[in-house]
Amino acid sequence: MNSTSSLLLLLITTSLHASFGQNLFCYYRIINPFAYVCDLLIQNPNGYNNFTEIRGTHLPVRWNEDVTTILRATSSISINAPSIICNTFINARDLDLFGIGIERINEDSFRNCRNLRQLELGGNKIVEIEERSFSNNPLLDNLSLQGNRLTTLPANIFVNQRSLNFLSLSRNIITDLPKNIFAPLLNLQELNLDFNQFEVIHSHWFGKLSTLNFVHFRSNQIIAVDERFIDNTGVYWLGMFHNICINQIVLDLSAKRQQMRAALQICVKNYQDISGCTLGNLDERVCKLEDENEQQQIKIDNLQKAVDELLNRNCTCA
Ligand SMILES: *[C@@H]1O[C@H](CO)[C@@H](O)[C@H](O)[C@H]1NC(C)=O
Ligand SMILES: *[C@@H]1O[C@H](CO)[C@@H](O)[C@H](O)[C@H]1NC(C)=O
Ligand SMILES: *[C@@H]1O[C@H](CO)[C@@H](O)[C@H](O)[C@H]1NC(C)=O
Repeated sequence: MNSTSSLLLLLITTSLHASFGQNLFCYYRIINPFAYVCDLLIQNPNGYNNFTEIRGTHLPVRWNEDVTTILRATSSISINAPSIICNTFINARDLDLFGIGIERINEDSFRNCRNLRQLELGGNKIVEIEERSFSNNPLLDNLSLQGNRLTTLPANIFVNQRSLNFLSLSRNIITDLPKNIFAPLLNLQELNLDFNQFEVIHSHWFGKLSTLNFVHFRSNQIIAVDERFIDNTGVYWLGMFHNICINQIVLDLSAKRQQMRAALQICVKNYQDISGCTLGNLDERVCKLEDENEQQQIKIDNLQKAVDELLNRNCTCA
């Protein structure tokens, strides 16, 4: 192909994108008296944020203000979260933008969704989130950023998140986080940091979070834990399957397991050695798996299966 014809092709594809490719469309339905749903098709591969309308026809006597739930259609594609969504559906409580190719979250992405409770941003390609991206969503209860490409987060990202109960950052490539990142989350119950690249669990991320009960750090590279975070939070379940865990600090942590109210998983040399036993009233004792040889066979590629099997096995208590 010569350069004139490739230029022509480029022009044709570009104008096709501009006229047909850039589009937001809702298919509306009611799933129960309290949920008026927009199934949202987003075609925005160039990441424009200059939309003036979301197309589609409302059900009788329903309006934009009635929409409670926005679920992205599976064929959607967008490298941003266009602000027209929250500018249009200002009362939305549940917004699902899973797996549409988002790369960046901006301060205006969710600014006008002031009633938002649940926000699903998993399975995207997010590398960057602006610091005030969630600051107008103080009722947010459940936030998933799992399965993205985050290496860290901005320091004040959670300053307004007094309602957040569940936060998942699993399956990113996070190596470290700013001090006090989670400290404002005074109602946080469960924090999932599985499948990241942490080497150390720092207590200075947490502050005093008395409601925080479940913390997941499975499949990281953890070699050390500052166990003050256990004393300063309400943690009683700490998931540590598949880490490095070779130094004395982690062994110290295992000695502290009596302080844990339910279960603590300890890892040794890349495989699960001792599993916190959650069966009946054995909860604070150390449990060893019956067949230790099988532990050696755990491979990272079927880790989830191995974990499930291990958790379902009987263990003897030391
Ligand atoms: C949005 O901006 C792009 C690029 O400048 C332009 O091609 C497109 O027509 C604009 N769309 C609207 C709805 O204004
Ligand atoms: C949080 O939201 C995700 C979907 O985004 C859902 O799968 C999960 O069950 C929710 N968790 C809770 C505790 O509501
Ligand atoms: C675990 O122990 C219970 C009670 O002894 C037994 O019924 C069950 O079959 C055992 N499960 C496995 C997986 O061995």
